[in-house]
Amino acid sequence: MSPLIISIVNHKGGCLKTTVTANLGAALARQGKRVLLVDLDAQQNLTQSLIGPVELRDGVPTLYDALVDETGLDHLIVGTPTKGLDIIPCAEDFAGADISLVSAVGRESILKDCIAKSTSFANYDFILLDNPPSISLVVMNSLVASDLFFVPCSAEYLPMVGLTLLGNSIGKMQKIAPQLRPLGVVLTMYSRTERICRQVETMLGKELGPMLFRTKVRVNTKAKSAPSVRKTIFEYENMPNGRGTEDFTELAKEFLERVGDVSRVTPEQGVVNG
Ligand SMILES: Nc1ncnc2c1ncn2[C@@H]1O[C@H](COP(=O)(O)OP(=O)(O)OP(=O)(O)O)[C@@H](O)[C@H]1O
Ligand SMILES: [Mg+2]
Repeated sequence: MSPLIISIVNHKGGCLKTTVTANLGAALARQGKRVLLVDLDAQQNLTQSLIGPVELRDGVPTLYDALVDETGLDHLIVGTPTKGLDIIPCAEDFAGADISLVSAVGRESILKDCIAKSTSFANYDFILLDNPPSISLVVMNSLVASDLFFVPCSAEYLPMVGLTLLGNSIGKMQKIAPQLRPLGVVLTMYSRTERICRQVETMLGKELGPMLFRTKVRVNTKAKSAPSVRKTIFEYENMPNGRGTEDFTELAKEFLERVGDVSRVTPEQGVVNG
């Protein structure tokens, strides 16, 4: 069975796309799933958070090179300290990806073609693609390559109204991404004591119905520090009742309920860190 590919998207900045990608990925890996994360954001936040920066070195190809040369991505996979969780990092040169893709033939489906050439992707249950805060060619490539898209949204007024715009933009991609389905919206930066958070939850509940995840990612100071020491929230809190540990364990459970808790790889199939 091929892996399920999921774009984590929102053109609004700072709504926890990267945090959700890293910690949902880690939570799924802790539940025995094989997970590959891909950093599609030139800010390299996902890369920095999990393995630290990738140095550009002569003759060592990067994710940017793979997209430009339209090669497979297998050689770019590296392990993380979390068992079952691997990453394709990006480096500084990824800032040029949008401009370089503009003139390519089939420019919205380059990533999809690269993935099709990547034989080791079959070793994973889930591929999570972390996107930049934009609706760019890179994001279009991510959506064209994905089965599902998942939207983290801060529990505030402006991010909430921005969802309509995001929905419209993604809706326009129907022709080039006919396979793409919504997985849902998860509220982030949630605080039960803040009235606006409860109001946004109620309004989105009415508007989105079951597309709104029950699980919320609560405001958590520890989540701000974890990336500075390259740890997931599980490693950083290191206790089962840590706020982030609870939230992301719950999020992974709900995620699996929604996508179907099936193992897509056999135990014999290897990944980078076993
Ligand atoms: N639960 C949390 N509570 C409060 N702050 C958090 C929480 N989780 C992460 N943060 C902090 O919020 C900031 C934004 O998070 P993150 O980088 O995941 O958002 P993003 O949507 O990926 O941003 P961008 O649009 O720039 O890619 C980060 O500095 C992060 O450390
Ligand atoms: Mg980010």
